[in-house]
This record gives sequence, structure tokens and C-alpha cells, in this order.
Amino acid sequence: MSQKAVLVTGGAGYIGSHTVIELLEAGREVVVYDNLTNASYEAVRRIEKITGKKPIFYKADILDKKALLEVFSRHSIGSVIHFAGLKAVGESTQIPLDYYYNNITGTIILLQAMKEANVKNIVFSSSATVYGEPPIIPIPETCPTDAKSPYGRTKLFVEHVIRDLCTAEKDWNAALLRYFNPAGAHPSGILGENPTGIPNNLMPYFAQVAIGKRECLSVFGNDYPTRDGTCIRDYIHVVDLAQGHLAALKKLEEKPGCVEYNLGTGIGSTVLEMVKAFNKAVGRELPYKITDRRPGDVPNLTADPTKANKELGWKVKFTLDEACASLWKWQSENPDGLEGYPSEAPAECVLDYLH
Ligand code: NAD
Ligand code: UD1
Repeated sequence: MSQKAVLVTGGAGYIGSHTVIELLEAGREVVVYDNLTNASYEAVRRIEKITGKKPIFYKADILDKKALLEVFSRHSIGSVIHFAGLKAVGESTQIPLDYYYNNITGTIILLQAMKEANVKNIVFSSSATVYGEPPIIPIPETCPTDAKSPYGRTKLFVEHVIRDLCTAEKDWNAALLRYFNPAGAHPSGILGENPTGIPNNLMPYFAQVAIGKRECLSVFGNDYPTRDGTCIRDYIHVVDLAQGHLAALKKLEEKPGCVEYNLGTGIGSTVLEMVKAFNKAVGRELPYKITDRRPGDVPNLTADPTKANKELGWKVKFTLDEACASLWKWQSENPDGLEGYPSEAPAECVLDYLH
């Protein structure tokens, strides 16, 4: 029996595009659905360059139920991997309504369309940020949740929405994947994270220091209760993270109801350890200075990935050095990311009933 297609919302973005590559390479049919607010159509071309397969693509919004229903009617879709969302923590404190509308209302509209189309399997991009400042390290999924920003609350709220839906309607199945810190790029150097403006996150910022676009990395605080005073995070290679989604899709076939999984390595690294690891990949000492703490940062977010390892049969394969090397390959071979390439989708891919 042929497998049904997977709809990937946000599939032109950083984690989504890497997941689409893994899906295509595993022989799955993929329909990418992205409004390109934080992505370029060039990412779809790069996916084709890497895999030799052209994913079906729609430039469309998850807030557009008519467009969603149109896509569900055109393709035989069995499950949805839902990456689409706004993701900048700082920005979410400035424009919380945009975040709540896009991430929560958008997901509710997606779930309504799925229900109408009788597609009841969803993999959702949650975040380690739902743990707030966790009392237990490494963090198990049973740890209490307490998101600290509007962005984090959108993730937590959507988790509740999906859990409530699965409780009320037993034919739904969901994997809520709590990502730790994605890092690195596709090992080919053809695709990677493509931040617009000044990167908020550590590794894309540091990569721009390495190519000379930024002067110096600011290390936000060295007075945390950690081994060298800088914050600890669990950096996971984006290809390992992508593979976690394939494992979660497979899990949904067992009809598990609603399940949460940490996708992390179980190994924490401090900011200064990351500096050292990336220096090694680049082959020279990059400049950094210690500055004040960034408001909202917590000392340590390290995953306990045991549940995902056991129940999904998934384990990370790449090392931190490999993540750093792939990031450097991507950044040095594409100093401007995907800038300068046509970013617009072909007109025949555009579905827009909102405007
Ligand atoms: P990204 O911004 O690269 O990808 C998100 C994609 O969603 C973008 O391509 C954007 O154009 C699209 N999008 C946004 N709103 C949309 C809408 N209304 N309709 C259609 N498309 C829309 O981000 P990413 O880093 O790939 O993250 C993917 C998901 O994982 C997000 O939900 C994010 O919150 C979550 N997440 C990311 C991280 C991280 O560190 N990158 C960590 C934890 C969770
Ligand atoms: C942040 C978000 C998280 C989100 C993720 C991806 C917070 C509290 N968390 O994770 O919800 O899912 O981004 O968007 O904002 N650092 C520096 N200098 C820099 C940048 C970062 O020292 O220029 C430090 C930070 O203090 C942190 C670590 O590096 O300790 C990682 O930061 P970052 O990459 O921004 O990720 P998180 O803050 O963990």
C-alpha cells in the first residue's frame, strides 16, 4: 500500500527544510506549505538540489482555512508536521498579539481544516522553552511547565489545545516535540539557517562573526551557577532533529494518542565551550567579550532524551564538532545565506484567500 503524503507547514524554514530533505530521502511524498514570511523560495530549490526531488510547494498561510482545505482536497495527505510559526522570543514581548494570533489561532485553524479533511495525525514543533527554569536537570518530559515569554506561552498553549483535542476525540494522534537548541546545517553546505537581520541566537550570530559580518560575539553573562559561569544548553544537530520527526511520524502509526518528547542530545554545553568548539571548526580564535546577562535566560536547559530514545527508537548521530563544522561549511560557502537569489514563489504555487 502506498503511503500518504505528509503536509509540512513551515517547510521552507530552517528546521522544516531539513526535515523535508530527510522525508524525501526516505521516499515520502511531501507537500510544503509556507507563507515565506521568514523563508525564501530558494530553500525549496536547494531541497531539490540536495535530494534530486522537487517537493510540491504552496505559498499559503495557516490562517487561511480555505487554502488549507484546497490543499487537503488536492492531495492525499495522511499526517501534518507543523513547523509554521513566529519564533523570536524578544520580538514576542513587543508584538504579543501577532504571536498569539499567528501561532495559536493559526494552529487552531490548521486543526479545524485537518478535522474537516479527516487528517488526524500531527507532529507539533514545541520547545524546551515550555520548561521555564526547570527544577530538574537533565529535564524529563514530566517536569512542570512554565513558559516565561509570549512566544513560550504560544507553544505551551498549543500543546494544551492539541492534548485537549486528543482527549476529546480518540481518533487523533499527536507528537509534541520539545526541541532543545538546533544547530548546524545540511552537511552538503547547500542549505542551512538563513536568519534575516541581526541573528538573535548564539550559533548563527557567531557564524556571522566568523565571516566578518559582525565584529565580536557578546557572551551574555558569566556569573551563572554553571561550571564556567556561562549558560548551558543542549545543542542538537539539525539533521538529527529532522530525523526525530521521521521517528515521530512512525510512532503516530501506532495510534499513541497525544505524547510529548524531548528532542535533545542529553549533553549540555556552556557558551564558552561552544566558542571553543566553533573556533576549532573555523580554525582560528574568534573574538568574544563578556557582557551583561540577557533578560529571560535560564542557567541550564539540558534534555533527558530517554523517552524519545526508547519509544521512538531515535538517537542523535552527529557530534557537536560535526554540527559546528556543518555550520561553518554552510556559512563560509554562502556568506549571504540565501540573499540575492529569487525569493518569490512561482505564481502557480500561490494560494491566498485572505487578501
Ligand atoms: P523558521 O522561522 O525558519 O521556520 C518557520 C517557518 O514558518 C518559516 O518558513 C515561516 O515563513 C513559516 N510561517 C510562519 N508563520 C506562518 C503562517 N502563518 N503560515 C504559513 N507559514 C508560516 O523557524 P525554525 O527555526 O525552522 O522553527 C520551526 C518551528 O520550530 C517553529 O514553530 C519554532 O517556534 C519551533 N522551534 C524552533 C527552535 C529553534 O531554535 N529554531 C526551537 C524550538 C522550537
Ligand atoms: C532561544 C529561546 C527559545 C527559542 C530558541 C530558538 C530564550 C529564553 N529562549 O533559546 O525559546 O526556542 O532561542 O529561537 O530566549 N548567547 C550569547 N550571545 C548571543 C546569543 C546567545 O551569549 O549573542 C547565549 C544565551 O545567553 C544562551 C545561549 O547563548 O545561554 C543560547 O542562546 P540562543 O541561541 O539565543 O538560544 P536560547 O536562548 O537557548
